[in-house]
Amino acid sequence: MVLKNVTIEAVGAYLPPKKVTNDDLAKTIDTSDEWIFSHTGIKSRHLAERDVATSDLATESVRNLFSKYNVNPSEIGAIIVATATQDYIGFPATACVVQDKLNLNKIPAFDIAAGCTGFIYALEVGRAMVASSSIPSALIIGSEKLSAVVDWNDRNSCVLFGDGAASVLIKSSEDNNRGIIDTIMYAEGSGAHYLKIPQGGTQKPYDPLSSSQTKLQMEGRSVYNFAVKVLTEVILELLERNNLTIDQIDWIVPHQANSRIITAAANRLKIDQQKFFINIDEHANTSAASIPIALNEMVEKNILNKGDLVMTIGFGAGLTYGGNLIKW
Ligand code: ACO
Repeated sequence: MVLKNVTIEAVGAYLPPKKVTNDDLAKTIDTSDEWIFSHTGIKSRHLAERDVATSDLATESVRNLFSKYNVNPSEIGAIIVATATQDYIGFPATACVVQDKLNLNKIPAFDIAAGCTGFIYALEVGRAMVASSSIPSALIIGSEKLSAVVDWNDRNSCVLFGDGAASVLIKSSEDNNRGIIDTIMYAEGSGAHYLKIPQGGTQKPYDPLSSSQTKLQMEGRSVYNFAVKVLTEVILELLERNNLTIDQIDWIVPHQANSRIITAAANRLKIDQQKFFINIDEHANTSAASIPIALNEMVEKNILNKGDLVMTIGFGAGLTYGGNLIKW
């Protein structure tokens, strides 16, 4: 079977209108702008209203993509949603809810649960499906409503996260000068307990008497150390197996979890930090949505152009990690 080359042809995003600054949080939580900014690089985050679901954010990001690129919805061959904050526990898949909201029929729609690395995984799964001709195109969406799952009584974690969504449209292309060139995907399940929502699944079904257990819990320092290590490793592995030097890479787009993680990796590798795109100050950590939100912002700012060589690097719950190498 001849595998087709697959390119990213369009991007769109949606951020809920409510912007909440660190000072706003400090009115109800024992924290400060000084602590949050100095420890994470975050200044504000967008938070969705109570009645807005992850599928709503995802759908709006697709509508943004359709409107900017004049895409006919009937061209869409599949919907893959990377998310850690599904509309429902277990089923239906958030992607199916998005499909219904977009009035699309008879195409595959499913979720990928790989924590903050979800977009990296979803892009590769979609690429492989398009490359093997099983579908002509796919919408790969990263969408998260983390405000619904963080423990607003835990200042160690609640200040770190935000809500948002972004999507990319991938298609097969004859243009071999562009495309998704390579992907790395790994997981270290032994670290699964570092970042989890302990209750509400089949392991520990929901118990109304301990509802804080249904919220996100994180061992921040352990995740931090893991993140710096794997961000460094994935960059090196993508370079090595594609016979590239860092000078040939135009952009590294890392998952936006903490600007200190990015600085530490850049210092370790002696890479100029200007090569890393960082927008965590305005969005905080939007998990699987952070990389496509960054890509959309870069395209809108005209700093990501056709032919640029880009690395996207993800790491997060699982513990999962990985990266894509893309000729934009
Ligand atoms: N405001 C004020 N003080 C705070 C806050 C806050 N919001 N949060 C914690 N503190 C205090 C703690 O109480 C503690 O005080 P103590 O020393 O008196 O006990 C101190 O600050 C914590 O210090 P550290 O644990 O040393 O803080 P650290 O520098 O490690 O930063 C952080 C914590 C930001 C969570 C960091 O460990 C981190 O970024 N970890 C990685 C998190 C991450 O990337 N998670 C997501 C990856 S996966 C995914 O994206 C889903």
